[in-house]
Amino acid sequence: MKFTTALATTALAAGTASACPGSSSWIHAKCEMKVTFSNSCGDVVAEMQARAAGENGWADPHNGGTYTLSSTSSNDLEGQRTTGDGKYTDKFDFNFESTGDSSCEVVACSESQVNSVIDYSTNYCNLHSLYCNSSDGCPTAGTDLTYSESYSSCSQHDDVCVAADQVASMLRGAVSSI
Ligand SMILES: *[C@@H]1O[C@H](CO)[C@@H](O)[C@H](O)[C@H]1NC(C)=O
Repeated sequence: MKFTTALATTALAAGTASACPGSSSWIHAKCEMKVTFSNSCGDVVAEMQARAAGENGWADPHNGGTYTLSSTSSNDLEGQRTTGDGKYTDKFDFNFESTGDSSCEVVACSESQVNSVIDYSTNYCNLHSLYCNSSDGCPTAGTDLTYSESYSSCSQHDDVCVAADQVASMLRGAVSSI
């Protein structure tokens, strides 16, 4: 009996951790994390779809990348983001699980498709830019979502997703290297 329970628990844990879209490159950067929202999953999915589609003038704050969604449902959103210079494409996947009228748990993952180890938080920003809010300095397509992030396999997750923060971070680097 105990054994069965342990197996079921393991299967569940594996199930929630399977958001990563995969990559044909053996060594590649990725960011996998859990994001808990104080919003309904419906509101979260709608806002992310609206941003990816550039509704209400939304533009990617992280160097102007382009989002393309390949699949959307009420509990899954998959797609890719191409960098502003068109050089790199990363794939991402969000799995949504409603935990109440205004709470939603999301397992999110973004993976580089080329050999890479360091990504300067690009995989993190690929995900973060689709739900960060005006308090973070992020543009929205209409809805300010409230959330908290916890990282499972996201080696770089610096808050550099908005251009102003990138400058601030560079300045901090310059000052600390004097
Ligand atoms: C933005 O999200 C943070 C938590 O990440 C929250 O504290 C804040 O209230 C949110 N801002 C808005 C405008 O919803």
